Parts: sequence; structure tokens; C-alpha cells
Amino acid sequence: MDDLSTIRSEALDAVQAAADLGALEAARVAVLGKKGSVTGLMKTLGGLAPEQRKEFGARVNQLKGEIEAALDARKGSLGAAALEARLAAEKIDVTLPVRPVAEGSLHPIGQVMDEVGAIFGEMGFTWADGPDIEDDWHNFTALNIPPDHPARQMQDTFYLPSRADGTPMVLRTHTSPVQARTMLNKDVQKRLADGGSLRIIVPGRTFRIDSDATHTPMFHQVEGLVIDRTTHMGHLKGCLVDFCRAFFEVDDLPLRFRPSYFPFTEPSAEVDIGCSWKDGELKIGAGDSWLEILGSGMVHPNVIANCGLDPAVYQGFAFGMGIDRIAMLKYGIPDLRAFFDADLRWLRHYGFSALEAVR
Ligand code: DAH
Repeated sequence: MDDLSTIRSEALDAVQAAADLGALEAARVAVLGKKGSVTGLMKTLGGLAPEQRKEFGARVNQLKGEIEAALDARKGSLGAAALEARLAAEKIDVTLPVRPVAEGSLHPIGQVMDEVGAIFGEMGFTWADGPDIEDDWHNFTALNIPPDHPARQMQDTFYLPSRADGTPMVLRTHTSPVQARTMLNKDVQKRLADGGSLRIIVPGRTFRIDSDATHTPMFHQVEGLVIDRTTHMGHLKGCLVDFCRAFFEVDDLPLRFRPSYFPFTEPSAEVDIGCSWKDGELKIGAGDSWLEILGSGMVHPNVIANCGLDPAVYQGFAFGMGIDRIAMLKYGIPDLRAFFDADLRWLRHYGFSALEAVR
């Protein structure tokens, strides 16, 4: 009897005192293991008289059940405590500020090309491309500037060694050769023959021998070309007015179309936008001054014919604009040469977040 109550209180004390699941298991083995105290009691049952065995056996069983219940309860609370401890140890502070990540920025030229692309994209234009190293025919002859034409002097050309077959090569002086490349494209000609239209913009690099605060030997232009059977000068005007107002974000921006000369257009017009100067600062919008921003005109019939289309059937307009120039005007960037210096301080100041979508 005494034995039983001693075993009981020692076992229950050990269970309560177990500080972790390992200690609890040791307490269980000490009582219910092969050599455990309660197991030892069970083994003595065999040597008892039947009457005694029944009575004592019942009490040992009850003790066993009591200790097992205590073990289970302790296991539950130790498990919960272990989980609590783990949750506390592994807690993440979601309010901690993130580590700064070096974020690059978009160069103003790429940004402006995207802006121009987005505006003309809404008008149904697609983006076309051509090579920087161009042959003399696409750069000049196809555009109604024959070899002996004085207009070749208008552009200070970088001449390159001729190709093996004798084809004279240049760094393209403007994006206009892509007009010819596109009109000559068989798929485009088929689309036009089927009654469709051609509308492209050509943003890209151009090259001329020139260098000062507003000229660099490499610069950027965007060409535009619309060809179908009915497009006229009124469409040219409407398209460029809409573009300039959207690009410069001035709803009532006045535009002035001045008669001009380009070999590849007839009639030709240079386009100015209204502006004013105050304390040396430029403001774009209705004012007392004008800024020239692009050349344009109705595509010359000779160009249409040179590109394999019938000028009696097809007509359209074209324009060419300096990307760097409109970027400088829109974002108040004073010196063109800084565009190409790769100065990180300049890029951080004038660059654009890559994560902000183009409007
Ligand atoms: N290619 C001309 C230049 O670089 C710009 C230009 C003027 C392009 C009139 C055109 C145009 O398409 O129609 O000076």
C-alpha cells in the first residue's frame, strides 16, 4: 500500500517536473518502461493469491491509468509551450523597412521614344526599324536626292568604305531611309494593293559630322510615314497638332506650318510650336515666340515611284523630328552633349523611373 502511494507521488512529481519532452519521456520510462516502477508492480501480481491479485491488480491498473493521463496532459502543455517558444523565436517583424535596392533609371531618350511611340500608337502607327549603316541608295537616291543633287550638301555625311560589290555606304544621316525600306516591303505593298494603309514611326539613331551645344555626331530622330490613296495635307496637320499637344501636354498649344523645302516631300512644311521666354526660362504654349521642332510634307511622287508604288494611286505624308531636341524642350535639359556623357549624377537627375508606366 505504502509502496503504491510512494510510487504514485514520485511518478506524478516527476511528470510535473519534466521541463521538456525529453525529460517527460525519461519520467515515463522510469514508471512504465521495462524496468519501470509500475511495470515492476505488475510483475509481482503473478505471485499473489487470486483474491489479492484481483484487488491489488485493480489498484495498480488504476494507478497506471492515472499516471498515463498525467503524462498525456503534461505532454500536451509541453507541446503547446514548445510551439509558443518556436513561434516567438521565429517571429518576423514585417514592419522593418526593406533594404534599399539600387534602382536604375531610364535615359530621357528612351523615355521620350516610349512617349512618342505611345501617342502615335494610339493613332494606329506601328514602330518600324532600319539599319544604322545604310547604303547610299536608301539614304539619298530613293528619297529623290540623286548623286549630283545639291541637297546632298544639306547633310554632313559620314561616308563609309563601299561594299565589295561597289555599293557606297554611309552612316544614315536621317531615319528617312526606313520610309523607302518599308514601302519596298512586299507585304506592305500587298496590304496597300488590298486597300489598306501604311502608318509607321521610326525612332532611331542618326549620324552627322557636327558637334556643339545643340549638335552631336550621333543623335536621334523619329520618322513618320502614312501612305494610302486619300491621305492629304489636312491629315498631316491634324496628326501633328494632336501629337504635339499630347506630347508637350499643352491642350491649346499653337502650331505654325511654314513652307519649306525637302527633296522627298512636295509641298513641304517646317513646323513650329508656340513658346515664350521669361527670365531666360522657356515655357511651351501660346506666347510671343516660336520654336522649330520638325520637318514634314506630302511624300514626293518620285519617292513613291522609286519605292515601287504608283504615284497616281498612292499618296501620303511624312515627317521627321529630333528626339533629343524634343526631350530637351519638354524636360528642360540645357546641353545636348550631356545626353551622351554617361554621367551618373546627370542620369539620376534627368532619368525616369523604370517602374512608372508611360502615360
Ligand atoms: N529627314 C529630314 C532631316 O533629317 C527630316 C524630315 C523632313 C523628314 C521632312 C521627313 C520629312 O520625313 O517629310 O532633316
